[in-house]
Amino acid sequence: MPPPPRKVVRLAAGRARALGLPTRGTTNANRLRRMDNWIVARLGAVLRSAADPLVVDLGYGATPVTAIELTARLRRVRPDVRVLGLEIDAERVAAALPAAAPPALTFERGGFELAGHRPVLVRAANVLRQYDEPAALAAWDTMRAGLGPGGVLVEGTCDELGRRGCWVLLDAEGPVSLTFGCRVESIERPGDLAERLPKALIHHNVPGTPIHAFLTAFDASWAAAAAVSAFGARQRWIAACAGLTDRGWPVDTSRARHGELTVRWDAVAAG
Ligand SMILES: C[S@@+](CC[C@H](N)C(=O)[O-])C[C@H]1O[C@@H](n2cnc3c(N)ncnc32)[C@H](O)[C@@H]1O
Repeated sequence: MPPPPRKVVRLAAGRARALGLPTRGTTNANRLRRMDNWIVARLGAVLRSAADPLVVDLGYGATPVTAIELTARLRRVRPDVRVLGLEIDAERVAAALPAAAPPALTFERGGFELAGHRPVLVRAANVLRQYDEPAALAAWDTMRAGLGPGGVLVEGTCDELGRRGCWVLLDAEGPVSLTFGCRVESIERPGDLAERLPKALIHHNVPGTPIHAFLTAFDASWAAAAAVSAFGARQRWIAACAGLTDRGWPVDTSRARHGELTVRWDAVAAG
């Protein structure tokens, strides 16, 4: 059960209100490595071509460890990247400040309005899980509206160790894709990842909906690939992903060997 919401934090008088509510600050070293590795692989070009390589890590949590890791990973793609950790909880901003390494990594108080910055990339991990669906959808819109030119938002959730996760890529127009990422040895079937679906889908995963049809097809493809598990769970995942292509689903299997699968958003979106 999520804790009761604490009071809304507002920025000092004269500055815009920080939009959102402080929530649990649970985080862990390396928790977001799958999401980050996907960002580097799929969005590296966005970062490389950005006139201003500003990235926001929204809601970094009780410690800034995943913001520090994001900075290190993105610097390999764009050495002059600037990561700005935004937290709505003022105490978490104060706790993170000793870890700041300007200009590469800085911290500020802020919410979905991105404290007025115009980043090329926003990573919001395990932030919207504790909001209800209408609030989460409104947060998507607010963050998208704050993106810089050609900017993108990656919003998702994962378990505490980062073994199972889902994330959505959004651009200024709206959601683009949904990615599943997992340590394949940790699942019994792909449908296990349903518990990590974004707020926009999690309550729609019932028979008759596109996301339910997709997960059912993924599980069927996984079952059909059972014989491949003799070569390891990863090979079975790769075969199951290929099976989805064969069944006509608009999936990107190029990172299947990493335990990931991306599906076009319009194929799974709630009506
Ligand atoms: C569960 S932690 C996630 C930490 C880290 N991103 C991770 O995935 O490990 C969620 C954090 O998001 C912060 N948060 C919630 N709503 C926010 C908002 N609107 N703007 C900024 N931070 C927010 C909370 O205060 C909390 O520290």
